Amino acid sequence: MSKPVVLIAEELSPATVDALGPDFEIRNVDGTDRPALLAALSDAHAVLVRSATKIDAEAIAAAPVLKVVARAGVGLDNVDIKAATTAGVMVVNAPTSNIISAAELTVGHILSLARHIPAAHASLAAGAWKRSSYTGVELYEKTVGIIGLGRIGALITQRLQAFGVTVIAYDPYVTTARAQQLGVELVSLEDLLRRADFTTIHMPRTPETLGMISDAQFALMKPTAFVVNVARGGLIDEDALHRALTSNTIAGAGLDVFVAEPPKDSPLLALPNVVVTPHLGASTDEAQEKAGVSVAKSVRLALGGELVPDAVNVAGGVIDPYVRPGIPLVEKLGQVFTALATSPVTSIDVEVHGELAEYDVSVLKLAALKGVFTDVVSDQVSYVNAPLIAEQRGVTVRLITETDSPEYRNVLTIRGAQSDGPAISVSGTLTGPKQVEKLVEINGHDVEVPLDRHHVVMEYTDRPGIVAVYGKEFGQAGINIAAMQISREAAGGQALSVLTVDSPVPAEILEHVRSAIDASSLREIDITL
Ligand code: 3PG
Repeated sequence: MSKPVVLIAEELSPATVDALGPDFEIRNVDGTDRPALLAALSDAHAVLVRSATKIDAEAIAAAPVLKVVARAGVGLDNVDIKAATTAGVMVVNAPTSNIISAAELTVGHILSLARHIPAAHASLAAGAWKRSSYTGVELYEKTVGIIGLGRIGALITQRLQAFGVTVIAYDPYVTTARAQQLGVELVSLEDLLRRADFTTIHMPRTPETLGMISDAQFALMKPTAFVVNVARGGLIDEDALHRALTSNTIAGAGLDVFVAEPPKDSPLLALPNVVVTPHLGASTDEAQEKAGVSVAKSVRLALGGELVPDAVNVAGGVIDPYVRPGIPLVEKLGQVFTALATSPVTSIDVEVHGELAEYDVSVLKLAALKGVFTDVVSDQVSYVNAPLIAEQRGVTVRLITETDSPEYRNVLTIRGAQSDGPAISVSGTLTGPKQVEKLVEINGHDVEVPLDRHHVVMEYTDRPGIVAVYGKEFGQAGINIAAMQISREAAGGQALSVLTVDSPVPAEILEHVRSAIDASSLREIDITL
């Protein structure tokens, strides 16, 4: 069997390939070469990128077997998460891989601005010895304003406090307690801009944050103030920044990110009071190794059909080992559920009964939906798009947990309503030391049948001779019955037979049997998961 294809579309740490291991065919492509990328995606199961490769709707559409997009870094501006989700493709990133590197580069920019290090270097390298031209300022006793006191903001705070600075921050999502713990004073944005000698911004790029530092904000700053942006291009309006720098509204700026990268003809590059680096925030050996190894692990999990803690478009997160065996079981129950349905389903309850209910079982809901929709839609169904498919079809979904389970240690049930037809339910459990997957209930009838590839479920009125009738029909059609079980309400009442058969049963045979026993329902179940 051929190995799954993992496409590496940008320069990544060699540790990435080591961490992927021998189970994949690793291919390389230049992700910025669009035609080459689209061609290479045609048989890729995973693609690994940094920020230069655009995985947009067109790229997703060019990748029919793609299961995971892995961003070896933090920012996902270059990945169309919505398109990926719709196509059932998991998107993962490495959310903490480069935060230390980003924090250190920020400190580097602040020091470069305070001491004119890049300009002084360039001058001396060109043969000059101009000491008085490069007199700087100390950080000691200055005020640093951090816009966005998240993980990177906190790391910068810790590092700068060693310089004896006062750190103030603006972040509407941070509590006063957290700020106090960091030794930071929380202030309004206006206050920060007025007071800070150095302002550094650490926000994601969203419609709200785009251009959040513009003419009005520069007008509030001190003429001696410096601004730094190593987060995302566009948070600082570049035209307004140019105006502020050329009119001496502020003293200088340090930039690692730009609206367009590379910034090509940006007039900012020519200004003497600007320090620029080419998006180097994550470009350290350590950050690249952490990012590469982290996404390699996620790709291994994702291609192994597992959920991934760092997936950004799948709910669930870390799965307890006790919950894990329930995933394939409930997926199969989902397939049984769909096989029992005779019209579109309008609601689905995924019920978890027993000790399992004490764990985080949200993954079982995703797995159940994946099973339910596998035979319903022609596209790939995954943990990623299964909830979306339910939503698009107007199916209401609930997860119900109940620690009580009288018969078995744990029972998983999928129960649902149909638009036209009776309610359906199917339950399963795992029994014995081998944790055998068993069906234990179908449409209210108790059974105990090991789950196999092919089953036939018949509901009819209990009366003598029925088994002989369907046995003869299947026998004549060459369908071997491997196991069977009958469950009935009461003698002469509604009965249900579950057969385990060795092969799929053609539709016309099913119809013969149905009329021969006058079944109220007769469904074939083929488990393909
Ligand atoms: C990130 O979002 O992780 C950083 O901006 C780094 O991007 P890069 O991997 O392209 O250097």
